[in-house]
Amino acid sequence: MNHSKIEDILQNNSCNYIHLNSTISTMDDAKEYLEKFHSNVVILAEEQKNGKGRRGNIWISPPGNIYCSIALNNTIPINEYYLFSMLTAVSVKSTLENFGANEIKFKWPNDFFFKNHKFGGMILETHNSKKNDKYVIIGIGINFASSPTIEDHKTTFIKKFVKMNTKLIFLYKFFNNFFFYWRNHNERKKEISSKFYNSLMFLNEKIEINTGNNRSIQGIFKGIKYDGSLILDKDNELVSIYSGNIKI
Ligand code: BTN
Repeated sequence: MNHSKIEDILQNNSCNYIHLNSTISTMDDAKEYLEKFHSNVVILAEEQKNGKGRRGNIWISPPGNIYCSIALNNTIPINEYYLFSMLTAVSVKSTLENFGANEIKFKWPNDFFFKNHKFGGMILETHNSKKNDKYVIIGIGINFASSPTIEDHKTTFIKKFVKMNTKLIFLYKFFNNFFFYWRNHNERKKEISSKFYNSLMFLNEKIEINTGNNRSIQGIFKGIKYDGSLILDKDNELVSIYSGNIKI
């Protein structure tokens, strides 16, 4: 497996490919690229000096793991953007299932877990270029060869729970799955969301969500809307939570 095979899949899907040894953050690179070239791109980096996580966190990004941003021109309305998260998560899961890992779960909004250990996450941003084209940038960080120690939750990495020699094999299969769902997201919307829901952690359970500034809210986790908000049953009233972290 080599990078040219990955480039082939991407080109077949009208997407350019940039592979960097080291960068600050592939999210910034993707935005710069869109401003200059106004076209779809995948940026993959071997390491990041200042990787961005959700909610202002740092994403620790040493060599050996997967750091990529996928920037795609799209016409999906902003209130349905969670479909991108779902199709990315389902593609990660299908890829790992092919290698025998059956216990991949998703934690709202954008985390990937294996047996209660986080091995990856994603961050979604929108970008309107000067030409006024609309892009979504999906930033994916996956622990492949190592995982950092984090206070909030246990962590793991792919090589620990699956037999896979190089991350290029993962990426090759992942991009195949991802672009299949991307191309067919309209007609497969139901399939994507039901696969996602089947692997969603804490669904219909009592949860506590950290909403920031030392505040939290408790209730029963009823589902997720296509805009990404979590539906919480709080004392028999349904409330939408737009941002937060479910406490484990
Ligand atoms: C999370 O907080 O769980 C999401 C982390 C997303 C990290 C990825 S790594 C590639 C891309 N570039 C970044 O700076 N962040 C995303």
